[in-house]
Amino acid sequence: MKYAKITGWGKCIPPVTLTNDDLSQIMDTNDEWITTRTGIKERRISHQSTAELASVAALNALACAGITDASDIDLVLLATCTPTTLVANTASQVQQNIGATGAAACDVNAACSGFLYALQNATAQIQAGMIKKAVVIGAERMTWYVNWQRRDSAVLFGDGAGAVVLEASDDKSGLLGTKTGCDSEDREILHIRNFGTDIDKYQAVGPSDILFEGREIFKRAVKGMTTAVDDVLNQVDCNISDIDILIPHQANLRIIQAIQSKVNLPDEAVMVNINKYGNTSAATIPIALCEAVEDGLIKANSRIISAAFGAGLTWAASFIQW
Ligand code: ACO
Repeated sequence: MKYAKITGWGKCIPPVTLTNDDLSQIMDTNDEWITTRTGIKERRISHQSTAELASVAALNALACAGITDASDIDLVLLATCTPTTLVANTASQVQQNIGATGAAACDVNAACSGFLYALQNATAQIQAGMIKKAVVIGAERMTWYVNWQRRDSAVLFGDGAGAVVLEASDDKSGLLGTKTGCDSEDREILHIRNFGTDIDKYQAVGPSDILFEGREIFKRAVKGMTTAVDDVLNQVDCNISDIDILIPHQANLRIIQAIQSKVNLPDEAVMVNINKYGNTSAATIPIALCEAVEDGLIKANSRIISAAFGAGLTWAASFIQW
């Protein structure tokens, strides 16, 4: 069997920063509330589309992998819940932008869990021998949905993209264990209203903003990600002490700290960058992965556990051998 080795990684961080103090100029909030409740200090706002963010991240990942001819790529999978266009899919725009003319192209929407879902899908295709090279991207323009009149959600989200290149390899590396799932019964506790074709459910004429029961999501995110991490560790027959770094979805610093204390990892083994970017949904994990490599936290043969939780209510965890 072939493995799906991660041979390249890249990100696209929009240059415009919106700080907590900036937000306090336009709504009734303050840096102290946002920092203590969420760990977020600032976030990035993109004036470019999701497809453009995704394309830059993908091109950086291709360059990192040393792939000069993108027509070698067999698959472009884009995890996003903020597509530039629904039809045609946004991945097709990325395929065109990066010159991956021979690739299948498809969007994956599992909200904040989307990148790990897409990584699982692309890895399975490589392991099955169906394809040899894939680009997997998480890209979001979450601020497009944000209703700037609603302080409870406006302070949480940001824009950005991250990507990895997977290549068929005999090295036992890449995604070696994975669990994904969806607890659909309570999916309404996290949703975007006034968006989609279910137009009879629109509440008068209004913006499409993000609604959620924060405390309930908080508890479920901690429980869901912790359980998924335990399940994947069992699947690959590892203990938490075998793990070099946890890359969690960045939704709230306190969620990350609660998971860290439950699985029992030291600070230096947990990647945190929510302070800089807020919640970029499907992009948090690939961006954090890139920055962990840049910061020297991930090295050759590092054992990584990653976990996510999001609308659906989807959840996922993955064990990655670097
Ligand atoms: N600035 C100042 N005050 C605010 C703000 C703000 N931006 N937003 C809300 N408040 C007020 C509320 O009105 C409330 O006031 P009240 O007590 O007078 O009614 C008070 O602050 C407390 O609000 P809570 O909702 O109780 O605050 P909590 O401590 O639960 O934190 C938060 C809210 C940060 C959303 C937290 O619940 C959370 O992080 N939840 C999980 C993350 C989440 O749901 N993310 C959505 C995406 S899903 C995902 O990525 C997994």
